[in-house]
Amino acid sequence: MGSGIAQVAAVSGLRVELIDIDDVALMKGMATLTSSLERLVVKEKLDPATRSEALARIETATGYHSLANVDLVIEAATESAKLKVQILRQIEASIPAKAIIASNTSSISITTLAATLSDASRFVGMHFFNPVPLMPLVEIIRGLQTSDATMQAIRELTMRLGKSPICVKNAPGFVVNRILVPMINEAFFVLAEGVATADEIDTGMCLGANHPIGPLALADLVGLDVCLSVLDVFATDFGDSKYRACPLLREFVAAGRLGRKSGRGVYCYA
Ligand code: 3HC
Repeated sequence: MGSGIAQVAAVSGLRVELIDIDDVALMKGMATLTSSLERLVVKEKLDPATRSEALARIETATGYHSLANVDLVIEAATESAKLKVQILRQIEASIPAKAIIASNTSSISITTLAATLSDASRFVGMHFFNPVPLMPLVEIIRGLQTSDATMQAIRELTMRLGKSPICVKNAPGFVVNRILVPMINEAFFVLAEGVATADEIDTGMCLGANHPIGPLALADLVGLDVCLSVLDVFATDFGDSKYRACPLLREFVAAGRLGRKSGRGVYCYA
């Protein structure tokens, strides 16, 4: 997600500092970004000069020192509240006082994350969708402490990125994942019960409900670990058994079958 966000920002004319844990992760992010730009050039959706200019606007780093002059940081780390809090505190200590911090969390409470910062009014959720360069939506999530000025600045920025914003109150899963991820979970129950094969389930939803890809292929695109962590947040925060993750989904994650990113999820990508 991070490389996709960096890509759309750079293409929109913004200077970007891409930060990751080590050089290997940075190289992987840059490779994804470069090949996505290449696909857009080949499809004539982006001209080669814009691609080169976008790449020239991106710098990479493994430390927080490069954040000294930024206006905005979008955190897109792994979906763990503990890890995000650690990272957000380091970010807040490194950025100018007026800069905004956004989190691309899929489901963690913006209000709770904000409460760990000194200035919670400059913290907001900015939830992008996979694949970021193609998906037009950004959910802007207002924590209890988020200021009007922060909401307005992020709305304007989202439009500058060529995306369409919807403004959402902080609630588990916000709007889209609240509706989408239980559907994906149900597809795993249908698969586990042997009602139909994975291909048939996905074909059913594509041809019967006009979805661009089926729910199991979508789980592979999003990451099975991400789907599971979203469901676990729902189960805890709503305290409602309807959000119980399908044991088959949990089993796949335990086996390291995380979807496209690990080469195998419901389907094989070798
Ligand atoms: N970068 C650039 N171009 C890309 C790309 C990428 N990362 N991925 C695909 N493309 C391009 C392809 O080159 C192709 O271009 P063309 O139409 O000009 O030929 C086009 O997109 C279609 O790609 P494909 O033919 O490979 O595959 P599809 O027709 O299946 O389209 C898709 C791909 C747009 C991803 C489509 O499958 C889709 O819309 N899927 C649903 C995605 C979705 O629901 N995302 C939300 C997930 S939930 C989420 O992210 C929230 C999180 O918190 C969990």
